[in-house]
Amino acid sequence: MIELKGVTKRYGENAAVEALSFTVEAGELCVLIGPSGCGKSTTLKLINRMIEPSEGQVLIDGRPAAAVRPELLRRQIGYVIQSVGLFPHMTVAENIGVVPRLLGWRAERTAPRVEELLSLIGLEPSLYRRKYPRELSGGEAQRIGVARALAADPPILLMDEPFGAVDPLNREILQAEFLKIQRRLRKTVVFVTHDLDEAIRLADRIVLLSRGRLVQIDTPENLLSQPKNKFVRNFVGGDRALKRLSRFSVADHLRESISLSLFDSRFAERIGELKAEGRRFVWITDRDASLFGWVDLKEVDGLANPKLAVTHASGSDIAVRSSASLREALSRMLGQGIKVVPVLDEEGRLIGEVSLADIERITGA
Ligand SMILES: Nc1ncnc2c1ncn2[C@@H]1O[C@H](COP(=O)(O)OP(=O)(O)OP(=O)(O)O)[C@@H](O)[C@H]1O
Ligand SMILES: [Mg+2]
Repeated sequence: MIELKGVTKRYGENAAVEALSFTVEAGELCVLIGPSGCGKSTTLKLINRMIEPSEGQVLIDGRPAAAVRPELLRRQIGYVIQSVGLFPHMTVAENIGVVPRLLGWRAERTAPRVEELLSLIGLEPSLYRRKYPRELSGGEAQRIGVARALAADPPILLMDEPFGAVDPLNREILQAEFLKIQRRLRKTVVFVTHDLDEAIRLADRIVLLSRGRLVQIDTPENLLSQPKNKFVRNFVGGDRALKRLSRFSVADHLRESISLSLFDSRFAERIGELKAEGRRFVWITDRDASLFGWVDLKEVDGLANPKLAVTHASGSDIAVRSSASLREALSRMLGQGIKVVPVLDEEGRLIGEVSLADIERITGA
């Protein structure tokens, strides 16, 4: 458990954070959010004593952090810094093993831990272990940063915009993976982000800061439904009902879909059967099970070859990944004018669909 009690950090005349009080429960994922310069990174640094408060107190599991030697404190606290910060001349395995090494772990203990963590973050150990940071994509480097913070199994994780430098698709995958990891490990996490959708998706509770002060601390649901004042209302924006959708994952609302391979030897027959069953749309897959397009079964009548009714549409345009949120799925529907969105796995294979009706049920429309 982390408690901040009236914490102020001044630089000269200015307070980077001011009279900040909040508690993060053990096992809770707390997201700090707010405009640039509002004091998010400062708050993290105050928690692990990279800087000391001008006033007030930080307690870790009920003990004043000021009474714990900073080195000891940092063993309990994994820290993912804002710009990844992997050591360029160390391999991936050496980077992940930095803290265990500082703690005096023997190589026989560190090596399997590194393997375990690489698997946990979804990177094949045999492929990644010996790479150097320059040989990694931005998203991979950020995952390694997360693995490094987890290496010595600290109960507390501080993460400063850990997925900030990744493109939206990979960010979505990292968020889904991180949620999966957190459900298993139940760390006490303070996670900083600029991205409200990310906050809503990940947080048990959100702390909204403005100019060094706490404005509202609440569950994502409450922050959206009961913004405390005009600042919060403006911050969360007009489409609050839709933002809630960030909390729901496509994977949890996946439905089975009807699909047919373009290369099925019984293509025409199958189309006839599906039509007879009263189906309206069929997804069409390519040779490798990736999405090729769809058929509106109303359009096949009178066609000599039903393949002429296939509308070609690539997965990258109309589909979402199972790691996406329903908000992502909705924006795909609105952008493409379709009521049902196909869902692909990481390899781009069709695995099901989500529909506007399912989303409406959640928003209560
Ligand atoms: N070492 C320092 N000396 C003087 N002022 C500082 C120092 N560190 C931070 N500040 C100021 O404190 C305020 C809060 O900074 P902080 O880095 O916590 O912001 P942030 O919320 O993390 O912003 P961002 O979203 O841009 O990362 C800013 O106004 C910053 O200029
Ligand atoms: Mg910052």
